[in-house]
Amino acid sequence: MPGSPLIDLALADKHVFVVGVGNGIGRACVCTFAAAGANVSCFDIDEAAANASVDAIGAQGRAFTGDASRLDDLRAAHDTATTEFGPVDVAVDVVGETRWGRTIELGDDVWEESFDLALRHFFNLARVAGRAMSDRGRGSIVAIASVSGLRSAPLHGAYGAAKAAMMSLVRTLAMELGANGVRVNAVAPGAVLTPRVEAMMSEDRRAASAANIPLGRFATPDDIARAVLFLSSDLASYITGQTLIVDGGATAQFPLSLRA
Ligand SMILES: NC(=O)c1ccc[n+]([C@@H]2O[C@H](COP(=O)([O-])OP(=O)(O)OC[C@H]3O[C@@H](n4cnc5c(N)ncnc54)[C@H](O)[C@@H]3O)[C@@H](O)[C@H]2O)c1
Repeated sequence: MPGSPLIDLALADKHVFVVGVGNGIGRACVCTFAAAGANVSCFDIDEAAANASVDAIGAQGRAFTGDASRLDDLRAAHDTATTEFGPVDVAVDVVGETRWGRTIELGDDVWEESFDLALRHFFNLARVAGRAMSDRGRGSIVAIASVSGLRSAPLHGAYGAAKAAMMSLVRTLAMELGANGVRVNAVAPGAVLTPRVEAMMSEDRRAASAANIPLGRFATPDDIARAVLFLSSDLASYITGQTLIVDGGATAQFPLSLRA
């Protein structure tokens, strides 16, 4: 439309509720939304992580501590947050971890724990924030999935399966909530150089992995946060039920040798 600004994220003074705000993708999301002018409720199981995120954005932030795999913890934080910052406009689920091991050697406990670590919190966030957004007639939810849910996930099979389930749930929620004005999407990162990943990988292994990525490097947490910001914003007003892959081209590669 002539005269309308090309870039209007429409996030200033909006209320963003981020679940899992540790010093990786979550913290980057918190800072990115705050830079766009939003108020950010920072929820984490680790009180220090929630407080550190708020310290990073000052008066635009509020810290909440709880376990996102418990519906009541999330509901209590969400309801308190709305009294501070108003209704939640955007909910972002960043929580997710894996347990490593060959699938045939995983015990029931690891299988169940992996699913809880990767999925239950999203089901809970959808029930809490999705319901409130539906009642209000607008809102946006973004989940952090993984390319491990789109391709194979050697040595983290339960995580890959749970992330695949998360992307399925994103599509289902998009269908169920679309008529109520609520959009639901996912971002699927490839390898992201968070402090956790940095501590886990030797430099040699990191360099070998980076050599397999068309863009030649791991993602930064900011790379992922910007994709989350895009999907949450009005720039993505007609996008729902989608997974945006942010992997430097890793999953786009030709599977066979290019040599004749
Ligand atoms: N780092 C990567 O390379 C990578 C790649 C693909 C996908 N991902 C996904 O990105 C997301 C973030 O990854 P990260 O490396 O930044 O993780 P991270 O471990 O640094 O951060 C996760 C945060 O969630 C919090 N948390 C864990 N369980 C919780 C619970 N039950 N309730 C509330 N908070 C809880 C943790 O305290 C932590 O602050 C995850 O979903 C992960 O699966 C990461």
